[in-house]
Formats: sequence, structure tokens, C-alpha cells
Amino acid sequence: MAATPPYSPPSIEGGVTTEYVVTQSTEETMHWGETFARRLKTGDVVALCGELGAGKTVLAQGICRGLGYKGEVTSPSFVHLHRYEASVGQTFLSVLPDRNVCPTIHHADLYLTKSPEDAADLGLDELYGGDGIVLVEWAQRFPEMLPEGCWWIEIEWPKEGENVRLIKVRK
Ligand SMILES: Nc1ncnc2c1ncn2[C@@H]1O[C@H](COP(=O)(O)OP(=O)(O)O)[C@@H](O)[C@H]1O
Ligand SMILES: [Mg+2]
Repeated sequence: MAATPPYSPPSIEGGVTTEYVVTQSTEETMHWGETFARRLKTGDVVALCGELGAGKTVLAQGICRGLGYKGEVTSPSFVHLHRYEASVGQTFLSVLPDRNVCPTIHHADLYLTKSPEDAADLGLDELYGGDGIVLVEWAQRFPEMLPEGCWWIEIEWPKEGENVRLIKVRK
């Protein structure tokens, strides 16, 4: 089990709650994502921001695992949108209070999306507030495509070549 990373308690300013987490390894980010998933509700949208290699996909993997998804979670850079469904017969209980199976998870990536029109064509807005969870990598490219009140997670990589990541969470 990865260590619990250093964590700053949430501060609230102008109705926005901000908190920080520092991770030292891939496993710590994954583990934090699993824990963070317990805070999500059906219909929630999580914007994952950060440069190439920051750890957005790693975090998405942790969140999916925390939501009870047991399958593979890979980068949707080239296909733009993955959809993960719990397999039939899964018996675990999801952490979402209103469900007893893993919710559908929509995992989008706007890295290769060229224009706001292309982003709109993905139909993400039809998924917002729906009966799944929506994760959007590279959300910073088209912030206007994200709904009001969604989770914004920015992953900073203070030193190239090192494993430390600063994760900032806003809601
Ligand atoms: N603290 C950390 N958190 C997340 N990933 C880390 C960390 N330290 C090193 N890594 C590595 O950085 C890379 C992150 O890749 P990825 O999640 O695909 O980035 P992104 O999706 O942001 O482009 C992986 O190779 C991962 O193993
Ligand atoms: Mg990625």
C-alpha cells in the first residue's frame, strides 16, 4: 500500500474549495485517486489538467479503480473518448451511494482535439449530470466545454525527471 501523501486541508474562498496533495510516486497518485473517487457522485465531472506525462491518466486509473472498475484504463488521446462499464456479474459495491454496481465511466481526452467544435462533437455535455462519471484529460485546452461546478484537478510536475507531483483540487 502506498503511503498517505502530504495533504493540505481544504480552504474556501469565493465559494471555491481548494486543497493540495503532494505525491512522490505513480502508486501514491493512483492510491490518492482511489480515495478521491469516494467523494464523487453520479453525474459528476472531473477535469484533469496538466502537461504531457504529468499523471492525468494515472490519476484516472486510480479514480476508476476507486469506483470499482476492474478493467483496463488507458489513455484515450487518440480515440478521444473511452467508455468503461462494469462487467456483468460483478459483485462489489460501488462507493456511489445511489448505486450498487460500478457506474459507467466516460474517460475523455482533449489532447488531440483541434477546435471547440471538435470538442463539442464528442457530445460530452450530454454525459454531464447523467448516470455515469465523466473524466476529461486535457480539460484546460477547452475549459468552456466543462460544466459549472465540476471538479478541477491540476497536476503540476515541479521538477522534470523526478516523481514528485503537486495535485491541486478545486470545486
Ligand atoms: N507522482 C507521480 N504521479 C503520477 N505519475 C507519475 C508520478 N511519478 C512518476 N510518474 C510517471 O509519470 C507518467 C504519467 O503518465 P500519464 O499518467 O500517462 O500522464 P498524462 O496522462 O498526464 O500525460 C507515468 O509514466 C508515471 O509512471
Ligand atoms: Mg493521459
